[in-house]
Amino acid sequence: MIVSHLHVKNWRNFQRVDVELRERQFIVGANASGKSNLLDVFRFLRDIAKTEGGGLQKAVKDRGGISKIRSLAARRDPEIVIEVHLAEASGQPPLWRYSLGLQQEIRGYRQPYLTYERVWKGNKQLLDRPDDKDKSDPDRLTQTFLEQINANSEFRDIAHFFQTVTYLHLVPQLLRFADSIQGRIIEDDPFGQGFLERLAKTTEKTRRARLSRIEQVLKIAVPQLEQLEFTRDPATGRPHLQALYSHWRPNAGWQKEDQFSDGTLRLLGLLWSLLESDSLLLLEEPELSLNAGIVAQMAPFIAKMQRTRRRQVLVSSHSDALLSEQGIDGREVLLLIPGKEGTEVKVAAEIAEVRALLESGFTVGEVVLPRTRPNSNQQWNLFE
Ligand SMILES: Nc1ncnc2c1ncn2[C@@H]1O[C@H](COP(=O)(O)OP(=O)(O)OP(=O)(O)O)[C@@H](O)[C@H]1O
Ligand SMILES: [Mg+2]
Repeated sequence: MIVSHLHVKNWRNFQRVDVELRERQFIVGANASGKSNLLDVFRFLRDIAKTEGGGLQKAVKDRGGISKIRSLAARRDPEIVIEVHLAEASGQPPLWRYSLGLQQEIRGYRQPYLTYERVWKGNKQLLDRPDDKDKSDPDRLTQTFLEQINANSEFRDIAHFFQTVTYLHLVPQLLRFADSIQGRIIEDDPFGQGFLERLAKTTEKTRRARLSRIEQVLKIAVPQLEQLEFTRDPATGRPHLQALYSHWRPNAGWQKEDQFSDGTLRLLGLLWSLLESDSLLLLEEPELSLNAGIVAQMAPFIAKMQRTRRRQVLVSSHSDALLSEQGIDGREVLLLIPGKEGTEVKVAAEIAEVRALLESGFTVGEVVLPRTRPNSNQQWNLFE
């Protein structure tokens, strides 16, 4: 399943978003245009649906409360809305629709509560809250049915879909120092700290198969790398990755992940996540610290991976190289355009000028990214 449509109202720097999403979707825009905020919608749904330590109250609290989430541009309308459609593939009618509205108590504890929660399976509405029980006991509206196993049995598929959303923003320092910040894994592993643990939890056969595919790509990206292996520290049992490099003396031995380069670590995390499961994958600026030649191969790699597994990938990016592939369709790119009333989200193919240029053979990188650039670089002169 994929998220085929997203609608939000008053979510952070967006007053209103209404877009179709495809299996591979790139999100581009200037700094602070809202790329991370847009990805956060899906992390928010995951946090609500999470079986362990999840739920609406926690998801809101972790984000600093409704006042942080609600768009500053919202003014009079206090309601935040998120609606997603889930379909087998892009362009197909939705199998499921899930929609919720949120607000906070005007007085007292200012607790977040649902203004509504609705679920449809195909055209049939399965849930329409507030229902009579909610009306006689309004405290019930502080929890979604999505987070309650007793209440979501008819639409468990949706809960499961959200629970398995993966967010990848691999910051190599945190992976390197996984030992020293032991035990403290922030969120569900946004920063790669739990990456080695995830590797460790995979069955040996699958791990070997994936690592061998990753090794092939790594060998191209890191020419001196010869071999990549999973090991455990004999003393502590902690999982590690180690690599053998050809440019060192033959007996120099293996190097552990704390000695890998930033790019090697990021590429490793990225490739593993792409091979890992069938759920929605959110990739935050995967181009960071990688050579443009490697970055240029990412979009086709994602497409290739999607031929065998229907995994939707949403990618935020600033990179020309990532978007240089001829095969990227204008419908696969969301352009974030900041304005006074919040950021507008447009499908690149729906902008007439962009479509015309793409049809005449320009790549998305050439046509769309220049539109995200700041108008002038004059501010830099202040430093002279
Ligand atoms: N509740 C809110 N209302 C309005 N704007 C908000 C709200 N919460 C965050 N923002 C704004 O969103 C912007 C940050 O957006 P975000 O981090 O998603 O940008 P980005 O496109 O990922 O940028 P970068 O490319 O630098 O990572 C900030 O300018 C912040 O002021
Ligand atoms: Mg960002």
